[in-house]
Amino acid sequence: MQAGKKIAVIAGDGIGKEVTEQAVRVLDSLSEKFGVPFDVDLLPYGSDYYLETGIALPHELRLQIGRDYDAVLLGAVGDPRIEDNVTGREIVLGLRVDLDLYMNVRPVNLVDERVTPLKGKRIEDIQFTIVRENTEGCYGGLGGQQHPDSNHEVATATMIATSRGVERVIRGAFEFAKRNGKQRLCLVHKANAIPQFFLLWLRHLKSIAKEYPEIQASDMLVDRAAMEIIRAPEQFDVLVTSNLLGDILSDLAAMVGGGLGLAASANIHPGKIGLFEPVHGSAPDIAGQGKANPLAMVMSLALMLRHLGYERLALTVEAAVTEAVRSRNTTHDLDGSLSTKEVGDFLISWIEKNARVASNAA
Ligand code: NAD
Ligand code: IPM
Ligand code: MN
Repeated sequence: MQAGKKIAVIAGDGIGKEVTEQAVRVLDSLSEKFGVPFDVDLLPYGSDYYLETGIALPHELRLQIGRDYDAVLLGAVGDPRIEDNVTGREIVLGLRVDLDLYMNVRPVNLVDERVTPLKGKRIEDIQFTIVRENTEGCYGGLGGQQHPDSNHEVATATMIATSRGVERVIRGAFEFAKRNGKQRLCLVHKANAIPQFFLLWLRHLKSIAKEYPEIQASDMLVDRAAMEIIRAPEQFDVLVTSNLLGDILSDLAAMVGGGLGLAASANIHPGKIGLFEPVHGSAPDIAGQGKANPLAMVMSLALMLRHLGYERLALTVEAAVTEAVRSRNTTHDLDGSLSTKEVGDFLISWIEKNARVASNAA
């Protein structure tokens, strides 16, 4: 058998572990059904491991992962016992920055009208993607405190936009739009209040847009964009925005598409290793109860398979997830009555029965 792509799996914390277990089972079933090998390593990193060993995921280990694997599949990281979120910062943010994964692609593709809370919206109205800048903004850790614990304490966090960073993510968003036949791209910003940061974005938008005459480019203030995603999501195809604005808008947008239980993401740098994870976190409020919806994680697996060139496998996963949602073979958040594992069972048996295996699995 040929050597399989090397996949690092970091399940992380809370429901991250539960949903990752199902995604790995789905990957195994695809591998068997399509005869495509994958070399999967389950890595131990997460908050339990940190509390036992003092190791979250230091810089050197992150670079090592970048050298050793073709892709990373990440559950979620975050534990209420760790107040400074060192595990979340080192594992999630650290991998994004050290692997230079400058695009965080977060699609919102409604698969069943029943699951959007928006009245009167159809499947075709809610088909857009947020491209979030993933290595800069105010996530860089620049800043600090002075006079801590006094009544004149000062705290600063510096927001960074480099010309190279902004240029590449806007160009990446245009390329994404072109590749996926999307006709409109909207830059979301806050240049009315923070011009020193966002005018750079607007200047790059203006110049890059000229290279893509077939794509209609526009821009919108973020407060309005939050409102418009609820009022008329059909006006959007691709939104591109900064790190923090993209973080906030992507949870809001996830809800429009049926909730965090369905929202997947791909952290990428074209030509390099990618990291694939759900938009949601470790959900301590439901962890350990079998209530977590694994579909966001499984849809992130589909994004990974597409990125690795296994389009047919990705389409199979997406078809299985669509079927699960439409037939209510889901967890409670989507009005189903299944447990996390039972949703995994449904997907696997659907794949076994329905996947069409061609000679070329790509
Ligand atoms: P969260 O996304 O974990 O949960 C928000 C709400 O949505 C909760 O009520 C939760 O039960 C529900 N929910 C989330 N995913 C679900 C799923 N798959 N199925 C059913 N319900 C689901 O956000 P939070 O509570 O703000 O954060 C919890 C922890 O996760 C924090 O430590 C945070 O830092 C971390 N976090 C990590 C990531 C990541 O690893 N990429 C992302 C977001 C948050
Ligand atoms: C996300 C998360 C992370 C972020 C947290 C865990 C630091 O909310 O992936 O959306 O803010 O990027
Ligand atoms: Mn987030």
